[in-house]
Amino acid sequence: MEVYSEKQGIRIAIDAFKAKKLTIGMVPTMGALHEGHLQLVKKALLENDRVVVSIFVNPTQFNNNEDLIKYPRTLDRDVALLKTVSKTNIMVYAPTVDDIYEGNTVSQTFDFDGLEFEMEGKFRSGHFDGVGTIVKRFFDIVKPHKAYFGEKDFQQLAIIKKLVEKYNIPVKIIGCKIHREANGLAMSSRNTRLKAEYKEAVPFIYKILKKAKEKFGTKSANKISEWVEKQFDNHDILELEYFIVADAKTLKPIKRKSNKKAYRAFIAVYADNIRLIDNIALN
Ligand code: PAF
Repeated sequence: MEVYSEKQGIRIAIDAFKAKKLTIGMVPTMGALHEGHLQLVKKALLENDRVVVSIFVNPTQFNNNEDLIKYPRTLDRDVALLKTVSKTNIMVYAPTVDDIYEGNTVSQTFDFDGLEFEMEGKFRSGHFDGVGTIVKRFFDIVKPHKAYFGEKDFQQLAIIKKLVEKYNIPVKIIGCKIHREANGLAMSSRNTRLKAEYKEAVPFIYKILKKAKEKFGTKSANKISEWVEKQFDNHDILELEYFIVADAKTLKPIKRKSNKKAYRAFIAVYADNIRLIDNIALN
């Protein structure tokens, strides 16, 4: 398995594949790979001849410097994991900050038609400009036919679809279902940082989402939100940042339910100083 740390190298390899009419899938990641990532890679391998997995902790999407410093960096382990999936058809692009940002580590400013101001956008200022900047750059370097993103970051997925639409980027964005631990916790690279006490507590998040889904048939969004807030007020160690029932397309909080629309519940929770997000389809 080739691991490229410079865009020139990966570009040459990709040009050679494209000359042979092979299709390229891409799975952008920040490393510390887990089963959820591997599921994306496996799906990408089924639908493409070669798959590029990028591993890059993107500084411009962190609004909290401590989170950036503490983000796990485990390249050797990640490469070993990917080799268990395929030794021949995966390429890793693990660039340096300089290879990507060329000495100017700043984000471009985007207009994602308001998607960027909802939920995560309210709590992580500049985050989606950072995501848009890096994903646009990756698409420019790798030029994949298809790119795969998990629905755990549902808002990110919506924003990337918007990015591709607005900039006419010729790539098909594929959203993939959330992969969960046996206890229901959505898989995330941040989970490895949870202390034992918090590891035991966090399955509560998905339990609450499932209850919210049950309630959605009969209760208003406001009533469900009040109920969720109360559950976290009564919780010893988990701290709720937000719970929102939103239109799955616009991501705006729901005002009145309509049978014609799809809705989702979104949640962000602090477990110690680790921020976890999750979501669930409600109808
Ligand atoms: O979801 C992630 O891991 C990151 O936000 C992404 C899409 C790789 C961009 O850095």
